[in-house]
Amino acid sequence: MRSIAFVLLLPTRPIAAHVVRSGKWCFGSCETVVTYATFNDTSPGSKKARLCEGILRATSLYLCIDEFCAESGRETWLQDANDTCIQRVNATLPPYEIIEQFRPEERSGLKRLSADEAFTWPTLNEVVIPDEEFFERAFTTLDAAYFEYDIHRIYGYVLFYFWAVVVSIGVGSKVVSLIQDLRRQDLHRVTASPDEFNHYRKNYGIPRSLQTLLKRYITVPAAFNSRCSQPFKCCTVPTRIQSLTILAFVVLNIVLCSVGYRLTDGNLYWPTQRDQLLRFVSDRTGIISLINFPLIWLFGMRNNTLIWMTGWDFGTYNNFHRWVARVSTAQAVIHSIGYTIMICERDGLASLMRYLHKTYFWNGELATILMCALIAFSVYGLRRSHYEVFLAVHIVCSVFILVTMYYHVLIFGAWEWNGFVYPCVAVWVFDRLLRGGRILAFNYRVWNTKATATYNPDSHIVSLRVPCNKSWAKPQPGTYYYIYVVDEPLYAHQSHPFTLAYVSTEIERPDLQLPLSSISERPSAHRANSNDSSESDALLQSADSLSKPDSLVFLIRPYDGFTGRLAKRAASHRTSVRVLIEGPYGHTVPLRTFTNILFVVGGTGIVVPLSHMSSLLSETSSVVNLRVVWAVREHAFLASVLRDFRALIDDERIQLEVHVTQDIQVTDDVPANGLKRVKLMPGRPAVHSVVEEMAMESGYDGLAIVACGPAKMADEARKACVAMLGRGVGGVEYFEEKFKW
Ligand SMILES: Cc1cc2nc3c(=O)[nH]c(=O)nc-3n(C[C@H](O)[C@H](O)[C@H](O)COP(=O)(O)OP(=O)(O)OC[C@H]3O[C@@H](n4cnc5c(N)ncnc54)[C@H](O)[C@@H]3O)c2cc1C
Ligand SMILES: NC(=O)c1ccc[n+]([C@@H]2O[C@H](COP(=O)([O-])OP(=O)(O)OC[C@H]3O[C@@H](n4cnc5c(N)ncnc54)[C@H](OP(=O)(O)O)[C@@H]3O)[C@@H](O)[C@H]2O)c1
Ligand SMILES: *[C@@H]1O[C@H](CO)[C@@H](O)[C@H](O)[C@H]1NC(C)=O
Ligand SMILES: *[C@@H]1O[C@H](CO)[C@@H](O)[C@H](O)[C@H]1NC(C)=O
Ligand SMILES: *[C@@H]1O[C@H](CO)[C@@H](O)[C@H](O)[C@H]1NC(C)=O
Ligand SMILES: *[C@@H]1O[C@H](CO)[C@@H](O)[C@H](O)[C@H]1NC(C)=O
Ligand SMILES: *[C@@H]1O[C@H](CO)[C@@H](O)[C@H](O)[C@H]1NC(C)=O
Repeated sequence: MRSIAFVLLLPTRPIAAHVVRSGKWCFGSCETVVTYATFNDTSPGSKKARLCEGILRATSLYLCIDEFCAESGRETWLQDANDTCIQRVNATLPPYEIIEQFRPEERSGLKRLSADEAFTWPTLNEVVIPDEEFFERAFTTLDAAYFEYDIHRIYGYVLFYFWAVVVSIGVGSKVVSLIQDLRRQDLHRVTASPDEFNHYRKNYGIPRSLQTLLKRYITVPAAFNSRCSQPFKCCTVPTRIQSLTILAFVVLNIVLCSVGYRLTDGNLYWPTQRDQLLRFVSDRTGIISLINFPLIWLFGMRNNTLIWMTGWDFGTYNNFHRWVARVSTAQAVIHSIGYTIMICERDGLASLMRYLHKTYFWNGELATILMCALIAFSVYGLRRSHYEVFLAVHIVCSVFILVTMYYHVLIFGAWEWNGFVYPCVAVWVFDRLLRGGRILAFNYRVWNTKATATYNPDSHIVSLRVPCNKSWAKPQPGTYYYIYVVDEPLYAHQSHPFTLAYVSTEIERPDLQLPLSSISERPSAHRANSNDSSESDALLQSADSLSKPDSLVFLIRPYDGFTGRLAKRAASHRTSVRVLIEGPYGHTVPLRTFTNILFVVGGTGIVVPLSHMSSLLSETSSVVNLRVVWAVREHAFLASVLRDFRALIDDERIQLEVHVTQDIQVTDDVPANGLKRVKLMPGRPAVHSVVEEMAMESGYDGLAIVACGPAKMADEARKACVAMLGRGVGGVEYFEEKFKW
């Protein structure tokens, strides 16, 4: 089947080219050579028949083989050729032994076919043997062609090895950080005094300076320019470590597409080296482009096994997804242009039109066009402003790309190259099945998840309360769920991610279904130190909580689409909405083992510290100093959070610094005055100095900085962390919870 690759553009190639690898293409070379001549003893009809009939042709072929080829593999090759002839034209090749009649001296008297004569496509009435130069040319031609065919695929597989290495590094670093977490925990348990602790740590820790250097220069900073969450010239630039990985991948692709071309003189298929290069480059790029396909699909899925293995978030893989797709598209374009040039060079537009009628050809061209369209429709601007349009185009185009690619490579056989298309389908189906599975696992009576939405115009926040007592998965802090609102027929397919703000573990009460703002009216006099905190209102799920979680609460900021519609529905009164919940996704960052934690959050980013809070303040955690710096526009939002979390916020380990940036006038319902651990401040927070202050306070102890907020804020926090690492505060770890990707 592999020989088809060359037949496609070269109808003059022999059709029965079942080359045996071990024969080093020798038998195929003889066949190529002999096919230049038309022998008199064949019926003048079909071309196919001429390749199988007649004693003259067979004898010439066998004599060539006998003269130029080693014996090993010959039987198999002849068998194959024979079978092909039987299949195609119901004719058999004569037995190999027919050449025994030619004794050596007779052979030397036979006609020698030279290349020059062969190129005139002679009609012959006698047995011929190619002269050595002609045979050598045929042999190097085939040798180079099949060498390329193999190397294209091998180079494509190199990309899999590349990602295997990247993922192994991820798994390795995950294991290392797990060990470090365990050790941090042990240290807290084993050592009593901070001095002892620090001594222990300094002497037995992993080489710290190396780690600090790595963090400072590689893993934490933005690629350049300290812009990571914010777009840079209408694109987004991933973090430095991700950018380096992507850069390595792109460079690897360029290298793999530029080396390993075996160009030969006197090539029979493509006379000039330029032609050979054109053909080989076109093939190489086409093949590597296709081999990239499974990676694109794998990296783009919500349910990506690699996310579970490495602990890297969806955003990271999404960056990889984009870049693999871009590289693959560029390769597809080169492949298509290359082939189009080759075809047009034969006899212009006429041959192009002829090829456009071939299924494999127009499907291939269409696939390239669709890939380009997909990239064009994924630009940052469109993704930002019309996410749903982007998503719909993305899915439709992807389906068509897979279908057209299937037909493009089908001529090589069902598996030869479609072996790279099927995995994409498999990955996609797997993802969709798992999505369904997660929805079922949340509530097996999927139609019956009734959430309560409340919109407060003052705080401009929708709070969505979803009963979760049927969920199999225990809610974890910092995880997020995709929410579908199914009773809006037109939009039921839309799902949007939201971070779990907290789990309310209420005891049976008549007002169980009350929304967030109403719960806060209830007395909440528990101190965090008290023993009865588990019945506290709106309390977070904590490790040692006794009562079963009752409902998940999401705090949602309305924008224009899905969230806007939700707000509109909930605007007038409390509304019951039928939802599907898909999750949890994401993983809990291991904050519990840190002594000092700083959250830098803006707006709805507050859900991240809220969801972690009770776990961080539980007995088993090692947190000593938890500081939350929160920029919020609406006073009412602040007020509701303070009411609901009063019990927790009163813990002495917490310090909450709130910057109300818009409606400054302090109304009476803000209970902040009563809470001594809450500091109200005007204006935006100075992120850099907050980080600096905290880093200086914590000294050599571990400090976790978690940012979740507007892009600029997150970038400032990241930059400040890098600066702290630069000053030798090695214990700083930076985590970012992104609300968009
Ligand atoms: C992991 C994660 C957790 C989140 N947690 C919260 C939360 O707790 N509270 C909260 O208020 N918001 C949260 N968000 C943001 C929330 O998902 C978006 O605000 C929401 O999807 C916007 O929907 P829309 O149709 O109203 O958006 P539009 O008005 O159409 O667009 C607003 C913005 O949201 C982006 N966006 C739209 N749909 C999606 C989507 N399905 N996935 C990712 N981005 C999208 C768009 O690119 C655009 O930038 C979270 C986002 C992520 C990725
Ligand atoms: N459409 C979207 O882009 C979209 C959709 C969903 C979620 N999100 C993301 O979700 C998060 C919260 O959204 P939200 O709407 O709840 O936020 P928000 O209401 O806009 O609140 C953001 C707060 O952060 C402050 N702030 C902004 N930039 C800052 C900076 N550089 N330094 C210090 N403080 C800064 C703001 O102050 P000022 O009042 O002075 O600006 C404001 O108080 C953000 O990450 C946001 O990007 C975005
Ligand atoms: C093939 O050819 C043989 C005779 O050469 C004939 O008997 C046979 O029926 C043919 N088979 C087919 C399928 O044409
Ligand atoms: C091809 O097959 C026929 C019959 O099956 C056999 O007689 C002949 O020897 C074979 N030729 C070769 C070259 O194997
Ligand atoms: C065979 O080929 C020769 C040319 O080499 C031609 O002159 C001759 O007529 C042909 N004979 C038959 C029987 O076709
Ligand atoms: C789950 O909660 C609902 C009310 O929110 C209640 O009717 C139902 O019985 C509860 N189910 C279980 C299994 O606890
Ligand atoms: C909690 O209860 C135990 C006894 O069950 C008591 O010894 C302890 O002092 C209580 N702690 C607080 C903070 O009330």
